[in-house]
This record gives sequence, C-alpha cells and structure tokens, in this order.
Amino acid sequence: MTAISSLSPPFRRVVALVVIVVFVGTLIYFRDLSASTLYKGLDPPNHSKAAQLSAKDLLKSPVSKNYEFVPKLIHQSWSTPELPSKFETWSRSCREQNPDWQWVLWTDEDNLNLVKQYFPWFLEYYQKLPGEIYRADLVRNMYMYLYGGMYADLDIECLRPANELFETYNITTVPYKSTYDGSHHRTSNTQQERKAFFGRMGTNDTFDHSIPNAWMASTPGHPFFLLSLDSVIEKLKGEIPGKITAEHLTGPIALRRYINLYLKKYKDSDELDQRMNKNPIVDVFGPQDSMKHSVEVLPWWNVFPYSWDRDGLAFKEICSVNSEQYDRERCKLNIATDHWGSYFITYWSHSWSRSGHNENNMKNIAD
Ligand SMILES: *[C@@H]1O[C@H](CO)[C@@H](O)[C@H](O)[C@H]1NC(C)=O
Ligand SMILES: *[C@@H]1O[C@H](CO)[C@@H](O)[C@H](O)[C@H]1NC(C)=O
Ligand SMILES: *[C@@H]1O[C@H](CO)[C@@H](O)[C@H](O)[C@H]1NC(C)=O
Repeated sequence: MTAISSLSPPFRRVVALVVIVVFVGTLIYFRDLSASTLYKGLDPPNHSKAAQLSAKDLLKSPVSKNYEFVPKLIHQSWSTPELPSKFETWSRSCREQNPDWQWVLWTDEDNLNLVKQYFPWFLEYYQKLPGEIYRADLVRNMYMYLYGGMYADLDIECLRPANELFETYNITTVPYKSTYDGSHHRTSNTQQERKAFFGRMGTNDTFDHSIPNAWMASTPGHPFFLLSLDSVIEKLKGEIPGKITAEHLTGPIALRRYINLYLKKYKDSDELDQRMNKNPIVDVFGPQDSMKHSVEVLPWWNVFPYSWDRDGLAFKEICSVNSEQYDRERCKLNIATDHWGSYFITYWSHSWSRSGHNENNMKNIAD
C-alpha cells in the first residue's frame, strides 16, 4: 500500500496495467491447458462442417446440366459478408449436419451480380422492388432455378442430415461440381424428375402464411421458380410497388399462391415448360420439355415443427425467440422433434420482417 502510493501517478498506472496483463495471460494459459488435457486420449471434437463456397466462385462456375439431382449446396443470405453472431449457432448447425455439402452466403451485392449475369432482362424490375427484403425474398427463387440445392433462412436450425430427407423422395444429392462436369451418372432406374420441396407450417391449409418461404430445396432448372419472376413483372407494371407488402409480392403469401396455381394448372403437363421456353432464361439452360416436374409440400413436422400460428400457441413461451423464456433445447423436447423426426426447426426471429434486415428483436439469443 505504502510502496505503491509512494510511486508517481503515471508510474502507478503502469504497474496496474502490468498486473492486469499478467493476470489475463495466466487465465488464457490455464484455459488452453485444461482444454488440451481434457481431450487427451479422446478424439478431438468433430468440427467437420460444410466448406464455404464463395458466391463469386459459384457465379463463375457453369450452371447445372443435370436436372434430376439435388446438388449439395446450402444457400443463405445476409446483407454483408459478416454474419451477425446471433445467427452463428443456427447457421453452424446446418453446416455441421451436412458436412459434405458446400455453404454459400449470398450478400446483397452478390445477389445483384447474379441478376445482372443471368437475369439481365429482369434487372429493371429487381431494382424497382421497394426494399431489400423484397429482393432477398425473390432472389432465392433464382438460386433454386439456376443451381438448385437448399435455401434456409439464417434462423433455421438443422436437426438431421438433409440427404436423408431427399432420399425418402428418391432424390439423390450430389456434389455441385458433378452436376455440370458429367462425373455423376444415375445408378438406379427410378424415374427422372425435377422436384421442388417446400414445408408446411401448422395444420390450417387455408392460412395465407402456411407455406413459409424460409426454407426451400430443389433440383436445378425447375420451371416453378420462374412463376415468381413473371408474376412480379406483371404486378410492378400495374400497381404502385410500395403499396404491396413483401409478404404478398415476393414472400410467403405469394409462394402459397404460386404453389396453388401450379398444383391446379401445371402439374403433370408440359405447359409450364412451353411457357418458360419463351422466357429469356432459355438462353442459359436451353429449351426444357423432356423431363417431368413436381412440387412437394412436406408435412408440418419436417421443416416447421414450431408454428407461430395458433397451432404453436402452447409452445410460444419457450419456442419463440422473442419470448423471455426462450430455450431451444426445451422447445425441441416439448415439441418432440426427435419423435417426429423433424429435419429443421425455426424459432421465428422474424429478422427478415418487412421493415428490413436485422430487426432489433433478438436480444434473447445468447447461446
Ligand atoms: C466427423 O464427421 C464426419 C463427416 O460426417 C464423419 O465422417 C466422421 O465419422 C465424424 N467423426 C467423428 C469422430 O464423429
Ligand atoms: C421410391 O422408390 C421406391 C422403389 O422404386 C418406391 O417403392 C417408392 O414408392 C418411391 N418413393 C417415393 C416417395 O416416390
Ligand atoms: C384457418 O385460416 C383461415 C384463414 O386465415 C381462418 O379464417 C380460419 O379461422 C383458420 N382456422 C383455424 C381453425 O384456425
């Protein structure tokens, strides 16, 4: 005490700093030491996860020429390349459940480049959309059409490997590269088919939001995804864009509308391919008509076992990320995702709500 107080104030500050540095250094040293002894004799923890493939590299690759397989690509998107830490846990779960897939994080800038490169005739309308959220909603249809694979919002947690889900529908998953370099050939004699997958939320089929666009998967070149582009062009020519909500123009309400239209009008016919053969995208893929196509809306327990609608009310306290009691492990136990064999779940952060990216509504997420 007396020794320190006899020092001059600047010198005292230096001594205090040295003490702090030594203390923190010791903490770090012992933490590392205990971690390495902990794993001695055991296998290191399995950090194997889907490797990142940059959107720039993907844009430089050829598009798929093979329409009957789901390429092992996980598409996610955010405004910038830096993923907010709150999404880390969920996004990592998808990469860890699917370690043999590749992970593509699209930014707003990448999305614009994708439109310029492959959909230049749509650029005018893309830029006319009244907000980033509309563009983010729309562009996932283009990922699916051009590349196929699986799109998941950043607040989706992956519970099981996606390969198994597609296998139950007799759809094979293959490395993306093999869809254009000819290195993958079909081995079984199952029927060739283009197939798009969506998930149902809840049990009320007439509910506008019952097929969220937070998750989708597809083989490449599925004409269903061009319906959204056509419809947006029509709408933007007519109404004042700012007056149509994202949900109605490019989001879940629009998606459910297209699915109903598809099932009513285009299922089991080549009418959609013929219509799309007049679309300028035909220059990229060549004319389509030879292969069957279908759309599968998966049952509620597969993709969205927790519903934010009435079905999910009983679980809202622990399952809604915006609730004080949010606890994802308890949520999964209560919903019995293991029993149902759920592949995915989302706790509905609504981070993509109409007013833009990253609402300030995720304070409870601190895993
Ligand atoms: C780690 O993950 C890979 C890829 O799924 C798997 O092949 C391997 O067996 C896992 N290793 C351990 C120790 O679990
Ligand atoms: C998958 O293929 C098997 C064998 O061809 C068939 O029995 C089964 O019904 C098919 N499943 C689906 C969902 O099409
Ligand atoms: C189902 O959804 C429709 C449309 O939103 C609504 O009018 C109806 O009340 C809902 N039914 C139930 C049982 O929630």
